[in-house]
Amino acid sequence: MEIVTAISGASGALYAQRFIQGLVAAGVNVHLVVSPWGRRLLRDELGMETLDVDALAGTKSHSITLHNYNDVGAKLASGSFLHDGMVIVPCSSNTLAEVSHGIGDNLIARAAAVTLKERRKLILVHREMPLSPIDVNNYKVLSDAGVILCPANPGFYLNPTTVGEVVDFVAGKLLDLVGVTHTMNTRWNPDAPRLSS
Ligand SMILES: Cc1cc2nc3c(=O)[nH]c(=O)nc-3n(C[C@H](O)[C@H](O)[C@H](O)COP(=O)(O)O)c2cc1C
Repeated sequence: MEIVTAISGASGALYAQRFIQGLVAAGVNVHLVVSPWGRRLLRDELGMETLDVDALAGTKSHSITLHNYNDVGAKLASGSFLHDGMVIVPCSSNTLAEVSHGIGDNLIARAAAVTLKERRKLILVHREMPLSPIDVNNYKVLSDAGVILCPANPGFYLNPTTVGEVVDFVAGKLLDLVGVTHTMNTRWNPDAPRLSS
């Protein structure tokens, strides 16, 4: 499997890291693009002074290919590159707006535009709160175009006790959406024991 993964400058670097770890663990080839603000985010939230794909993968990995954000001539920019889906995690309101308006002047936006025109799976993990009316309009445009909007919006019904469990709820959902098997705890089980109130 080939999955395009993009990191833009919205809060939630841990979601990207765990998603990528899930892909790598399942033997998926990951095509990674990180925006300049995404790099800043990796620094601020993960302490990554320079982009370290092995740290993102949690292991030394040969299955991650890092693509240049400014190279709109990279293979991801062409519909002839076959892949199994693209996930932008986390997705800023800026990138959300670029994708909803068909802008293609960087590799994240261009790869997303190509994914849409080829009618492949495109998933945006938008993170902003509250939503601006412009975000809401962009959601409508994107949803009508077939984009899966999967905001970073973890459920708490599994009674998480660590940040890692909260993150895995979202990362596991993303893996489900791209059809990758994982062991992260994301599923509602009405028979599981609950915390008493
Ligand atoms: C630490 C940090 C956190 C940010 N968090 C968000 C966020 O959660 N959502 C958002 O839409 N923008 C956020 N921003 C602002 C975006 O990074 C900014 O709009 C940038 O232009 C996005 O560019 P990109 O979409 O090319 O990555 C954040 C910026 C920084 C530095």
